[in-house]
Amino acid sequence: MILQSLHLTNFKNISECSLEFSPKINCFLGDNGVGKSNLLDAIHFLSFCKSFAGLTDPMLIKRGEDFAIARGHYLRRDIDEEIVAGLAVGRRKSFKRSGKEYRRLSEHIGLFPLVMIAPADIELINGGGEVRRRFLDMVISQGDARYLEALIRYNQALTQRNSMLRDGVADDNLFLAVEMQMDMAADYIHRVRAARIDRLSEIFGRYYSAISGTRETPKLTYRSHLSDSDSLAVLLETNRGRDRLLRHTSVGVHRDDIEMTLDDMPARQTASQGQAKTYTIALRFAQYEFLRDVTAMSPLLLLDDIFDKLDAGRVERIMRIVATDTFGQIFVTDTNRRHLDEIIALTGGSDAIWSVVDGCFTPITRPDTQS
Ligand SMILES: Nc1ncnc2c1ncn2[C@@H]1O[C@H](COP(=O)(O)OP(=O)(O)O)[C@@H](O)[C@H]1O
Ligand SMILES: [Mg+2]
Repeated sequence: MILQSLHLTNFKNISECSLEFSPKINCFLGDNGVGKSNLLDAIHFLSFCKSFAGLTDPMLIKRGEDFAIARGHYLRRDIDEEIVAGLAVGRRKSFKRSGKEYRRLSEHIGLFPLVMIAPADIELINGGGEVRRRFLDMVISQGDARYLEALIRYNQALTQRNSMLRDGVADDNLFLAVEMQMDMAADYIHRVRAARIDRLSEIFGRYYSAISGTRETPKLTYRSHLSDSDSLAVLLETNRGRDRLLRHTSVGVHRDDIEMTLDDMPARQTASQGQAKTYTIALRFAQYEFLRDVTAMSPLLLLDDIFDKLDAGRVERIMRIVATDTFGQIFVTDTNRRHLDEIIALTGGSDAIWSVVDGCFTPITRPDTQS
C-alpha cells in the first residue's frame, strides 16, 4: 500500500500543506518542535482514527481554529482510494472512504495498515505488563478475529467477577458460572499467545541480530498463570477466598506478561539505551512482518526520531533493512541531515526529503519518478 499524497489543513501546528510522496522513502528534516511528528501523527490518524500520541481529537485542531482536515490519497491493492478525515469543534469526527462516510469508525481501522516506531516505544521494555499485553493483543488480533472475540468475552466475565467480589456476593454457584466463562475464553487466549510469542521471538531475534551486528541473545518468554496449571477454573476457585479479601481477580490471563531478556538478563535492568532501542525497533519490525503476512499488503512504516542514541553501525544496518523490498513505503523524521543522506545513498534516487520549519514543509529532494 502506498500513500501517494497528503493534504492537511489546521492539523496541530500545520496550517496548510500538500505533499506528494515517494513510493519508497520519505524523509522529514528539521529542528525540535517544528511539526515532523505532527505530520506522522496525521498519517497515523488516517489509518487508526486516532492520534499516535494519545491526544484527544480537539487537541489535533490547530490552536485558535475550529476545524481540521486530513486528506490522503492511497494506492491500495492497485486501487486509488481517498480517505478524508474531518474534525470540528463540538462535532463528531467524520471519516470518508472515497466519498462515502463510514457508519462506524471500527469499519475503517485496520484497512490501511501502518506500523509506527517512536521514542515512546521504550515503554515496551520499561512500562508495566499492560503495555506489553496491548502490543501482543494488537499483533495477534490483527489477523485473528476469534482471538479478539475471546478477549472481549474474557474481559466481560472478568469485569463481572470483579464487581461480584467488590459487592461481597456470597453465592459460590454464581462465581462458578462466571469462572467457567473466563476459563473457556482464557484457554484459547493462552494457546494463541503461547504460539505467537514463540514465533514473534524468533522473528524479533532475527531483526535484533541484524541491527546490532553482535552475538547478544535477546529472548521473549511468555509468562502466564496458566503456564503452570491447565485450568483457569481451578485456579480461580482456589484463589476465590483471597480474591474476596483483595476485592479483585488476582489470577488469569489479564495478568499475562512477556519477559524480555538480553543474554538471559532482564532487558529493563541491563540493556544500554542503544540496546533497549534496538530491542524495541526489532519488536516493531517483527510486528510489521506479522501485519504484512495477515493483510497481504506492505503496511506504511513510520520511523519517528529513531536514530538518536544509536551508533553509526546500527543506524546504517536499520536503513539497509528498511530499504529492502520487504518493507514498503517509509516515512522518516530526523534532526540530523547526515542520517537522511545515508539513507538516500542506500536507495539511490527514488526518495524525497523535506525541510520542516514552523509547520511548513519545503522539498529539498523530490522523488525521481523516472527511476
Ligand atoms: N493543536 C495544536 N495547535 C498548534 N500547535 C500545536 C498543536 N499541537 C501541537 N502543536 C505544536 O507542535 C509542536 C510540536 O511538533 P512536533 O511535530 O512534535 O515536533 P517535532 O518536529 O520535534 O517532531 C509544538 O511546538 C506544539 O506546540
Ligand atoms: Mg518529533
